[in-house]
Amino acid sequence: MPTDKIKQILAEISSATVTSPDELEAYRMRFISKKSVVGELFAMMRDIPNEQKKDFGQHINGVKQAAEDKFQELIQALNQGTKKGNTEGLDLTLPPSNLPVGGIHPLTATRQRIIEIFERIGFNLSEGPEIEDDWHNFTALNFPENHPAREMQDTFFIEKNPDVALRTHTSSVQVRVMENEKPPIRTLSPGRVFRNEAISARAHCIFHQVEGLYVDENVSFADLKQTLYHFAKEMFGKETKIRFRPSFFPFTEPSAEIDISCLICGGKGCNICKGSGWVEIGGSGMVDPNVLENCGIDSEKYTGFAFGMGIERIAMLKYQINDLRLFTENDIRFLQQFRPLL
Ligand code: DAH
Repeated sequence: MPTDKIKQILAEISSATVTSPDELEAYRMRFISKKSVVGELFAMMRDIPNEQKKDFGQHINGVKQAAEDKFQELIQALNQGTKKGNTEGLDLTLPPSNLPVGGIHPLTATRQRIIEIFERIGFNLSEGPEIEDDWHNFTALNFPENHPAREMQDTFFIEKNPDVALRTHTSSVQVRVMENEKPPIRTLSPGRVFRNEAISARAHCIFHQVEGLYVDENVSFADLKQTLYHFAKEMFGKETKIRFRPSFFPFTEPSAEIDISCLICGGKGCNICKGSGWVEIGGSGMVDPNVLENCGIDSEKYTGFAFGMGIERIAMLKYQINDLRLFTENDIRFLQQFRPLL
């Protein structure tokens, strides 16, 4: 039995030291890898007489174990050396490992894109409070005294004071801007709004709108249409068409709901557009002269258009999301899909 060889290898293993990853690798090649001296011992098994095989096998398994134990020891020693400031063996030219990158929430991304599109055509940004009074949310906007939208089922009132409520739409910001600024006014007001609704795939009690307002001399319905057409093409693609449907809002006259051609089927009809080829994205119209006057703007001299759109609705169309609740559940599997691609 080649006992001498075994002894020599064991001695070499026990005295081995390493000071760098290269030396560690050299150790691994010599004692651990298939072609190592230990590997050679295993190859010798073939030539050992049968009656000695068991004994020899035990010996070489012991060598293998010793070689592996020492390897672990050397790895630890090397790591500790590096931690103590021994930078030998630290390769600063290696690329860093990728840190996980966060993403932008789809609603934030959509709001940013909407702002960007309107800013480029001269709209500034304005904000108003989420807790509003009756004047800004309803009265100045020409809501008649007993309009159903004022009722408890739609509006969250605060502490039983019917004059204070969570705003039900961003149209309240229109009033604040017109009260404080002189035409020309061209402003965009994105923000959170609140309605007393049961939460479902299609409705939520907290959601986001973006309001647009343009007041100047000679602002016409054609301006409104062209502005929204521009927006639709920028937001959803060049092929997008828009359509206005006559509607009613107390604060605009005439009023229209805004539809865009369905992105999914290109207008042929599918289940997203319920076969019609069109999907609604918001409301709009020419600012009612009463509203201008309520805000101290001369309605003989100035005209204006306004529009309001749901940010969730736009994001759902853009990213083909079919359940409103996904936006607020913070499910990482949903959110990860909006991470930027690296
Ligand atoms: N405020 C309306 C809503 O919440 C949306 C709206 C419609 C806003 C017409 C407007 C408009 O500015 O002109 O449903």
